[in-house]
Amino acid sequence: MTTWHDIGSVQEIPVQGARLVKSSQFGDVAIFRTVSNRVYALADKCPHRQGPLSVGIVHGEKVTCPLHNWTLDLASGSATGADQGCARVFPLKVEGERLMLGLPTDHA
Ligand code: FES
Repeated sequence: MTTWHDIGSVQEIPVQGARLVKSSQFGDVAIFRTVSNRVYALADKCPHRQGPLSVGIVHGEKVTCPLHNWTLDLASGSATGADQGCARVFPLKVEGERLMLGLPTDHA
């Protein structure tokens, strides 16, 4: 089951940037906004060595980790190219101007 949380407006996220949402259960969640105004939510931990994806470089529908330059697909969280790994993806939806982050409520 998913509980939806109002985390602010889309405009609060810089284009080609990110902001952090803190979750006591799931840790830091990075909310990304692309140049085409799409938004994505990923755990703020690179699957390589837990680098902070929220300060990575957003390009197209991807983010490049600031530590060792892995590039992750924002929709799937998966590393691209030869790298293997996946950041956790959280559901995110836009209702009017508001961003709603979905966090599981039935996890163990
Ligand atoms: S921690 Fe992200 S590429 Fe190494």
